[in-house]
Amino acid sequence: MLNKLFKFQPNRKVSDVVVNTDGLDPDSIPRHIAIIMDGNGRWAKEKGHLRTYGHKVGAETLKTIVKASNNLGIEVITAYAFSTENWKRPIKEVNFIMELIKRYLTAEIQEFKEFNVQIRFMGSREDLPDFMNETMDHAIKETKDNTGIILNLAINYGGQAEILHAAKSIAQQVADGTLKIEDIDVPVFENNLYSKGLPSPDLLIRTGGDLRVSNFLLWQIAYSEIWTTPVFWPDFTPDMLVEAIKAFKNRDRRYGGLSTDTA
Ligand code: FPP
Repeated sequence: MLNKLFKFQPNRKVSDVVVNTDGLDPDSIPRHIAIIMDGNGRWAKEKGHLRTYGHKVGAETLKTIVKASNNLGIEVITAYAFSTENWKRPIKEVNFIMELIKRYLTAEIQEFKEFNVQIRFMGSREDLPDFMNETMDHAIKETKDNTGIILNLAINYGGQAEILHAAKSIAQQVADGTLKIEDIDVPVFENNLYSKGLPSPDLLIRTGGDLRVSNFLLWQIAYSEIWTTPVFWPDFTPDMLVEAIKAFKNRDRRYGGLSTDTA
């Protein structure tokens, strides 16, 4: 379980990130925000750069948003850094993203520690190069005792692959005799997902203008509110994060039931 050390800290400056919390209700802060960081390539092209430059600036944006989220008392950010479909991109771009993630996790580890950020990963580790697995293990080890925000990076992640992985793991437990078919329920299934132990995302943010979920957290977003913006990820700011949270607060989350004023 997650601990409850998190507190909303209005207008507190965290390093170089100032979050303007005017008009934000402290009780409306989502526990978990999932982000599809889309639009890096288009952002870079628009500015006459290579697509890879967009990923580089996008990595900086993620750091800023994690710091802002930590300040707001959000418990988990799950960010889609590399999907199972991203292998289809030109090898140069794939290699660039892998190197970028490696450098990011190495160079920023001190700062993540300073800001009490715990790093976790979701996705299939098997097809990743050794240097990535080593970097990821190192980041987990270095930040495992941190009690602030969890930065959960989805790397070589696909929602369908995750559900298949869970189904196979459950089938194996049944075959081994450690689990009975009649005992398979939602909590058991969730315990076999990469997101084991994390709350489901309350809010899914997608930048870059597209209106689809792109194989991200297919199980976990069953009741998530979705907020999209045409803004490309490198231009996403803490103020936009606050805007998304304010919109989230005004949603009537019924989870298939009735709202209290119509019940
Ligand atoms: C989508 O933009 C973004 C990605 C596929 C990669 C996301 C990676 C980062 C933000 C940087 C690396 C992350 C870390 C953790 C260091 P796109 O390339 O699909 O953009 P487009 O839709 O404009 O083509």
